[in-house]
Amino acid sequence: MKIAILSNGPGNYSTKRLKTVAEERGHEVDVIKYRDCYASIERSQPLVWNDGEALVGYDAVIPRIASSMTRYGSAIVRQFEMQGIYTLTSSISIVRSRDKLRSMQLLARAGVGIPKTVVSRGSADVSDLINHLGGAPIIIKLARGTHGNGVVLAESKKAAKSVLQAFYVMDQDGTNILLQEFVEESAGTDIRAFVVGGKVVASMMRQSLDDDFRSNLHQGGAGEKVKLTDDERKTAIKAARSVGLNLCGVDMMRSERGPLVLEVNSSPGFGIEEVTGRDVATPIIEYIERNAKRRNKKDKVGA
Ligand SMILES: Nc1ncnc2c1ncn2[C@@H]1O[C@H](COP(=O)(O)OP(=O)(O)O)[C@@H](O)[C@H]1O
Ligand SMILES: [Mg+2]
Repeated sequence: MKIAILSNGPGNYSTKRLKTVAEERGHEVDVIKYRDCYASIERSQPLVWNDGEALVGYDAVIPRIASSMTRYGSAIVRQFEMQGIYTLTSSISIVRSRDKLRSMQLLARAGVGIPKTVVSRGSADVSDLINHLGGAPIIIKLARGTHGNGVVLAESKKAAKSVLQAFYVMDQDGTNILLQEFVEESAGTDIRAFVVGGKVVASMMRQSLDDDFRSNLHQGGAGEKVKLTDDERKTAIKAARSVGLNLCGVDMMRSERGPLVLEVNSSPGFGIEEVTGRDVATPIIEYIERNAKRRNKKDKVGA
């Protein structure tokens, strides 16, 4: 197969691993910096270009879209989809996963456990919103934040009110601000399940090393291998399916009422390989081998 990896970081560990494993398995691989690509939208001829050359002849595309470039990256992925090319993660699922409001709605509909969450555009009474969550402390987070940067713990109603006031000034639209129940019993830890094709292929627990309530590795958290309970495994798989991702990292917290999903990451890092000793690149390429071929064959029959 001829595979394109859409990645702006050819030197990234995840990109290198995918390329190496795919090549070892006999595939031809191009790493494409999608930020330099452009798309020509023409009747019956949707193409993606890089350096003056049309990107054609691919059997599969592996999107590794950075969250800072979600809109542009997903538009390029969509352009490949318009040509009937198999993409490991679809543009629509990438967009869903990057918006915590949108993904919480999908997860909730599918019956996946999530922390109680409310969204308001700032005109509702804050006390009323907080009461919905069972009172302070609460978490206030940006729907499109990453690496723990847009997540605040408000210890009291008073603190929550002033933080929200500031946030609402910056986001008149309101859809970027979520209020969430603070899952106190496992504060500072969360679980990452790495899901490929409806199976958990590796899982780790992340723990903040200081008294921060956020366990993101970017905030100084550390990871260790963890064995998931049946419930956690099923929750991760259901979460991946409800957002529509064949490859993702599902982040959950262990709560008194079972696993609660915080987010579904559509470009999960491969650092989990080092933490768990598990190879996650091979299952991804194997999954593409099984599915891209089948899909393309079907497309030809239908054409
Ligand atoms: N409702 C919550 N209760 C307790 N801790 C939370 C809650 N939401 C987030 N956290 C902590 O903050 C971290 C970052 O939150 P998350 O929603 O995953 O945003 P980001 O996309 O920035 O990683 C989580 O990994 C978790 O440790
Ligand atoms: Mg997170």
